[in-house]
Amino acid sequence: PAELPDIQHGRLIIDKNEQPTPPPPSETLVFGRTFTDHMLTIEWSATNGWEAPHIKPYGPLNLAPSSSVLHYAQTLFEGMKAYRTDDDRIQLFRPDMNMKRMNNSARRIALPTFNGDSLLELIKKLIRMDRHWVPKEPGHSLYIRPTLIASQQAIQVSPPTEAILFVICSPVGPYFPKPVSLYATTEYIRAAPGGTGAFKLGVNYAPAVMPQKMVAEKGYSQNLWLHGPEHYLTEVGTMNMFVVLKKDDGDLEIVTPPLDGMILPGITRDSVLQLLRDHISGTRPIRGLDKGEKLAVSERGITMKEVKDASQTGKLVELFGAGTAAIISPVHKIGYLNEDIEIPTGPDGMGRIARAVRKELSDIQWGKISHPWSVPV
Ligand code: COI
Repeated sequence: PAELPDIQHGRLIIDKNEQPTPPPPSETLVFGRTFTDHMLTIEWSATNGWEAPHIKPYGPLNLAPSSSVLHYAQTLFEGMKAYRTDDDRIQLFRPDMNMKRMNNSARRIALPTFNGDSLLELIKKLIRMDRHWVPKEPGHSLYIRPTLIASQQAIQVSPPTEAILFVICSPVGPYFPKPVSLYATTEYIRAAPGGTGAFKLGVNYAPAVMPQKMVAEKGYSQNLWLHGPEHYLTEVGTMNMFVVLKKDDGDLEIVTPPLDGMILPGITRDSVLQLLRDHISGTRPIRGLDKGEKLAVSERGITMKEVKDASQTGKLVELFGAGTAAIISPVHKIGYLNEDIEIPTGPDGMGRIARAVRKELSDIQWGKISHPWSVPV
């Protein structure tokens, strides 16, 4: 494939924050509310391409009220994390996947593409400058939010002629500290065939806020988005879904909806699938899962009827979500058509599969075990 436009990381300009703030204690952090001392910005124009990148103190962007992004949601983002290991190294998890997905999102809304390796080098520089912001408490990490917006002053719906790519960082704990309750909504949808559900665009998130308020009033944490008259499960908006079923022969089937253009191709989703497949093939057993136990993994459509029937016949073993922010989050109930489907969880709120997968994934992410997915900063 042709080289993507470079972003000239060699021309990086650095302005140090002369009034840095000390990171607050991790136990006081609310997800995504605290930002580090520095950010990265790179401006783009159709005439000049990418300008010199700039690391500078975290602060407001210079945006005109007529900027396209403020009117037509020409904005996309990524979510990635930097993890601190026990021996004080900092590492990223499969960041190349974020760079690829960000370019795919850019293509979908005609924002400029860029060389992902160059952006990754710049992100590493930013993290190194703010490395004391990477928390050391278990389950905590530095959430990294690369964002790309159309900034041209134009109230005309048209391809961007100016853009700003920026990266901000926020120390965080898990997005869902407790098992999650979902409400399978039949009134609204998140995505449709040919739409933007498979891209990480701001436009997928704003319409979900009101339905989320509605389900919060009923006592549920998140919407479970469905598709079609059959009520196929899609995703939760903040995470992809895994359903563990007991088959008639007693073996387990771990089902996740397929990448059909209506769900986000989650990097955690892909990692969970690979870990499970490597376990099943015997190439890399997941510690904490019985080697003799028969497991199968399926990327296939699964309807709410199948989930409900499995629950009624004792065949619904567990259900969990997977995402960068969410890590692995067990689900303990799903509200559906005015009924609650109760989902089994262990004494710590996790099912057995979720617990083993979460431990394996976390041990890789926090560097307790080495894996080619880990990238040093
Ligand atoms: C992530 O997991 O990184 C996400 O983007 C979900 C987000 C809406 C918090």
